[in-house]
Amino acid sequence: MTVGSKVYTPPLGHDWLTPVYDTAVRALTREHVWRSAFIKQIDPSHDDRILDVGCGTGTLAVALKQMAPQADIVGIDPDRRALARAAAKATAESQTLRFVEGFLSESALPSKWKPTKIISSLVFHQTPLATKREILSTMSSLLPEKGAIHIADYGLQQSVLMRALFRSTVQMLDGVADTQPNADGILPELMAEIGLVVENTRIVPTPSGAISFYRAVPRISNNSPRAK
Ligand SMILES: C[S@@+](CC[C@H](N)C(=O)[O-])C[C@H]1O[C@@H](n2cnc3c(N)ncnc32)[C@H](O)[C@@H]1O
Repeated sequence: MTVGSKVYTPPLGHDWLTPVYDTAVRALTREHVWRSAFIKQIDPSHDDRILDVGCGTGTLAVALKQMAPQADIVGIDPDRRALARAAAKATAESQTLRFVEGFLSESALPSKWKPTKIISSLVFHQTPLATKREILSTMSSLLPEKGAIHIADYGLQQSVLMRALFRSTVQMLDGVADTQPNADGILPELMAEIGLVVENTRIVPTPSGAISFYRAVPRISNNSPRAK
């Protein structure tokens, strides 16, 4: 899909599959297991301002708002059809969430709004290498000293079984070019390259490959995992 001069992959690889994205994620990713564990890692609090990058159909943002109703949550995504679904979910829960249509950039965010936590789930495996770098770099520049980035995505596929499942599901839908660097374990390397201190906190095996959780903080931060 193209927005302006930028290209992105829609949630399930093809625009016409977006209506079945939530069903597919439920069936193919042990969604309840990894999403609830990821929410626990994010640990939303009432005074958090949370930016969900590539929020898609809004499942994570809506679940976080249920956990911490006072938290200020903004989701950003270039896909209009996915965002319409996200907005409908928030309305069904009577939640006030903000969804921004666009690619991540400081100027796309609400004016003077600074996140305390930046999160992203299942986005990087669908983006080209240059975009992975660009998104991580923008996340890092938006991050306050005591803030943290939380990412859940297909990461290093360590076992023969996980590699086979990843190939026959995610790579069938999204192709190999963007997904293989994730499967080779590039995300923590890219985060370290830009000076983040990164911890691979959990790996969840699923029917579509292993989903890794990362927590990254600025190197100078007191809440660095290494400083604990
Ligand atoms: C597989 S979906 C994940 C949606 C949601 N985060 C979730 O956990 O279900 C990936 C999303 O990333 C969005 N996306 C793709 N390229 C992007 C980019 N460069 N910046 C931000 N979002 C992007 C897509 O539009 C899509 O909605």
